Amino acid sequence: MASESMRLVRRYLPTQRLVHWIGVATFVALLFSGIALLVPPLAFFAYGGAPRLIHRIAVVPFILLPILYVVLNPKQAKELLIESFTFTRDDIEWFKHMPAYFFGRTKGLPPQGRINAGQKLHHATTFLMFIVVAASGFVLLFGKGQLGPDGLAITAMVHDLSMLGLTVMMIGHLYFTFVYDALSSMLTGFVTEEYARMEHPKWLEELPPNAFVVKKK
Ligand code: HEM
Repeated sequence: MASESMRLVRRYLPTQRLVHWIGVATFVALLFSGIALLVPPLAFFAYGGAPRLIHRIAVVPFILLPILYVVLNPKQAKELLIESFTFTRDDIEWFKHMPAYFFGRTKGLPPQGRINAGQKLHHATTFLMFIVVAASGFVLLFGKGQLGPDGLAITAMVHDLSMLGLTVMMIGHLYFTFVYDALSSMLTGFVTEEYARMEHPKWLEELPPNAFVVKKK
């Protein structure tokens, strides 16, 4: 009896996955240590304690992430940046299917490329808010003395709101990862051909033969 096999498609390189998971770890560390610094009942152990130290340490790899991505994967970093900010007619059509897509229905979805319209929105918003959260954090760290009470309050508000935006984005990102069973792309670097055909048919058509591997079921 012939053993069944399936075709997998290479989606992310190990170095791309490494950058992503460093990003996730540092983001979560910054989020929870930031909440401890922000919420008054937790302030007694936050200021001068572990959360403040964690926040200051985790910010270093977080800020260096884009540089690390460019150094390790220059071609993929350029593609990611350009594709995330390029919305096509199919993408606009895709957004009209968004309510059904939200509930796991993909019937009639306009064909998508390497990243779908929802991912483009997530990645583009993440990049922009990353810049805002990093710039405002930088000002809070080094410019506190010159800001005055109003300037300080506004900068802190911008910092907290952009972090809130990033958190909302992450919740949506997590939701779609699990609804569409996409985690393997960031764990093993591969997705099934079936998944790629459903989510990214235009990308699948353009792939070279060496992007596919056959695996026994
Ligand atoms: C536990 C939390 C997370 C999980 C499980 C997760 C999962 C994933 C998965 C499965 C992909 C690949 C989707 C695809 O096939 O294209 C992905 C891509 C991506 N994620 Fe996450 N993610 C998490 C947190 C985050 C956070 C916190 C951010 C940013 C603040 C983020 C930013 C990105 C970006 C920019 C990409 C595209 C990467 C690239 O094209 O190189 N993720 N994530």
